[in-house]
Amino acid sequence: MCGIVASLGSRPASPFIIQGLKALEYRGYDSAGLAVMGAKGVKCIKAVGQVSRLERKVKFKRPAGKLGIGHTRWATHGRVLVKNAHPHCDDKGQFFVVHNGIIENFAILKEFLIKKGHKFSSDTDSEVVAQLLAYNFKQVGDVRQAIFLTLRSLKGAYALAIISEKEPGKLWGAKLSGPLVLGIGEQQFYLASDPMALANFSRRMIVLEDNEVVEITTEGYTISNLESEKTVKRPAALVDLADKEAGLGGYSDYMSKEIAESPRVVEDVTRGRLNSETGIVKLGGLDTVASQLEHIDRILIIACGTSYFAGMVGEYLFEEISQIPVEVQLASEFRYRNEPLSRSTAVIVISQSGETADTIAALQKISDSGILKLGVVNVVGSTLSRLTDAGVYCQAGLEKSVASTKSFIAQVTVLVMMALYLNNHSPLYNELLRGLTDLPEQMRGFLKSNSVAKIAKKYAKYNNFLFLGRRYAYPVALEGALKLKEISYIHAEGLAGGEIKHGSLALVDKNCPCFATALSNGIDDKTVNSLAEIKARKGKIVAVVDDPKSEAAKLTDDLIVVPKVPEALQPLVAGLACHLFAYHVAKTLKRPIDKPRNLAKSVTVE
Ligand code: AGP
Ligand code: GLU
Repeated sequence: MCGIVASLGSRPASPFIIQGLKALEYRGYDSAGLAVMGAKGVKCIKAVGQVSRLERKVKFKRPAGKLGIGHTRWATHGRVLVKNAHPHCDDKGQFFVVHNGIIENFAILKEFLIKKGHKFSSDTDSEVVAQLLAYNFKQVGDVRQAIFLTLRSLKGAYALAIISEKEPGKLWGAKLSGPLVLGIGEQQFYLASDPMALANFSRRMIVLEDNEVVEITTEGYTISNLESEKTVKRPAALVDLADKEAGLGGYSDYMSKEIAESPRVVEDVTRGRLNSETGIVKLGGLDTVASQLEHIDRILIIACGTSYFAGMVGEYLFEEISQIPVEVQLASEFRYRNEPLSRSTAVIVISQSGETADTIAALQKISDSGILKLGVVNVVGSTLSRLTDAGVYCQAGLEKSVASTKSFIAQVTVLVMMALYLNNHSPLYNELLRGLTDLPEQMRGFLKSNSVAKIAKKYAKYNNFLFLGRRYAYPVALEGALKLKEISYIHAEGLAGGEIKHGSLALVDKNCPCFATALSNGIDDKTVNSLAEIKARKGKIVAVVDDPKSEAAKLTDDLIVVPKVPEALQPLVAGLACHLFAYHVAKTLKRPIDKPRNLAKSVTVE
């Protein structure tokens, strides 16, 4: 998803903006641009493609000035063209704007402004903000009032940074649904859509809330509420983002690094939270709502993409370990359903970024319902972590690759611990505590010696894939299919093993292989039946097994052997195998691993 950075202070703006945009590249984008206010007005430079292309243009044009705004765009309205890249300005060049989100009423505003004589130069929704600022300034003659009037006219979602030659010493920021933080340095102020952009510039940050506007000068800043215009006082938080491992650390890409970090993630997620000697699971983030949790008779898990599949693992976990009925819903569906919810339901949102627009909207939909809202989120201080009543941070560390890998591992590990936290009398309790304690070394052993790369090379030539799994392995099948699709661009369908005979078997022939997760789970014979049905139709089979001598293994063309673990932990080892398989197929096809086409790391638009 796109990124916003802006800077005002004693230092030249463009070097920070370029560095800040590079720090946000992992979020995914298609074009970039910046605007810097200099002695002779604003210089605006844009480029399609990587930030490095913008950087070359900036080096050549050398925009001087200590006030500037920058943007990486993930197109929603208007093709990926230079004219549609941000910043956008009005037709007289008085106001420059960068925008994250969607202005849902842009068409009617654009029609109104064209009738008032404004000339548009892009196909985007965002340009109406700059043009409307100029129109309102003409009406009221004051930049602050023009900004407030404009923001009150917008519907949809926005994080904005604004500069104007009418107030050459001021930087403005505004937020509604899209993330925006204020960074406070030494005589230097920043705006960014993600604290990551400020990692090397500022440790004091204020996260802006919805309907807030910040006015920044070289002397300081004022945050105001859009409706009341009253000043909002909020202390800056100290945020330490100097992630020692922010670089590639010798890996060729972030995805392989983050897959390799999976064992350490299990250790980090469980550290200080579970102790297999004393048998204690301690989740401090839930202690504040422990009494409410005692009266929960239903859990509703809401998420998107990989996080949704982690939630599906959670469904089995909570039902089998905590004995609580569970439903998992896609955030993009939940937010438009009229589903009656009782107050004895606990909602759990799962999100790596904590900024996914659909998941935020789903949570906001129940914000006043009195329903307990819990978060399983990776990014500390993210919007979702602040919208929930309590939760458990994933502690997976920064995940830069668009494809979620270690965060899936972290999410499932957190969910196992939450299920045990809710029922420490489960017959599975001690086995799973020991299992989680032993798991990191088992995962390391698998990562050290596995045949996935060799097998993946053989299967990179196919254009279609089926992924199968039953019970805990069903969400793994869905996750494995998504991972293959999103980084190799091979079409893949994940399905419950028992479903193959209800239609998808028609796809199976020698050109449509199947990737089956066939670990020992008490219904192995049923999995064997599915594999036999595939074999009978000449379908090639790659299987993840924990017993190379199993009946399923005998039917398989290529085996990926993973450590034997309790069934509830199988998604962690099978998920690791799926991530590796997708990675090596994509590498064989020479795909851009960390930034697959069309995708973004954090989908902050709807
Ligand atoms: C998974 O590899 C994708 N990057 C995507 O499906 C992602 O899981 C989804 O967009 C949800 O993101 P979140 O976990 O940050 O909310
Ligand atoms: N909707 C705007 C556009 O398409 C901004 C998209 C974004 O968040 O990058 O340009």
